[in-house]
Amino acid sequence: MNHTTTTLNRLDVIDALMAQKKLKNYLEIGVANGHIFFRVRSPFKVAVDPAFAFDTLRRIGKTILNPSNLANQYFEKTSDAFFAEDAGRVLTGKPLQLALIDGMHEYQFALRDVENTLRYLSHDGVIILHDCNPQTPGAAVPYEEWVEGQWNGDVWKTIVHLRSQRPDLNVFVLDTDQGLGIVTRRKPESPLAFTPAQIAQLTYDDFAQNRVHWLNLKSPDYFYAYFGLEKE
Ligand SMILES: C[S@@+](CC[C@H](N)C(=O)[O-])C[C@H]1O[C@@H](n2cnc3c(N)ncnc32)[C@H](O)[C@@H]1O
Repeated sequence: MNHTTTTLNRLDVIDALMAQKKLKNYLEIGVANGHIFFRVRSPFKVAVDPAFAFDTLRRIGKTILNPSNLANQYFEKTSDAFFAEDAGRVLTGKPLQLALIDGMHEYQFALRDVENTLRYLSHDGVIILHDCNPQTPGAAVPYEEWVEGQWNGDVWKTIVHLRSQRPDLNVFVLDTDQGLGIVTRRKPESPLAFTPAQIAQLTYDDFAQNRVHWLNLKSPDYFYAYFGLEKE
């Protein structure tokens, strides 16, 4: 495959980590029609979404294309319900190595998803957060105010929160595919110092003026360097 920086997307990131780090356990929160989920090659995959946008026929078709889908576990519920009711049982003995968080794109929802996922993440596991880098005010509004077009919500506040409040995590955002947040248990590169109350008050204009600094925004090539991966 010939990946260039301009085409790096979440599936490229997932594929490279899965294949080169030989990962086995994958969680996706917010799966929709499984456009990404069904393509991931991993022997143990967990899908969580309150409204899956696929039927049994699509599942069968995707399993023929990618036999690793045979062992998938599906939870048609919110991520909060999954973590409250199922995660302890489902993930016991199967520490997560990679998770894509792409469910409800609002600060507190995405933060809970990260914090809950961390409870089951292996020490060298990786969390990818989609939609961290909205380009317009309209893409960054709360879900109830969203009218049309791209919606990223305020997941960017989750990044600011983690960089301010979690000295045990290194967090940066790849400047590609709506902003791919990367969370690992490593020493933070350059922490921020916001309180949760301050973060709640921040506006899109504040964000737009501080985008690169607050997101710790990196070029897509940084991904390969950070994880010591070959560019395929
Ligand atoms: C942008 S789509 C996910 C796209 C998918 N990850 C991909 O890359 O193709 C967002 C999904 O999040 C789901 N969602 C909304 N609220 C959620 C919640 N509280 N917990 C889990 N998923 C949620 C929606 O039903 C929707 O299918």
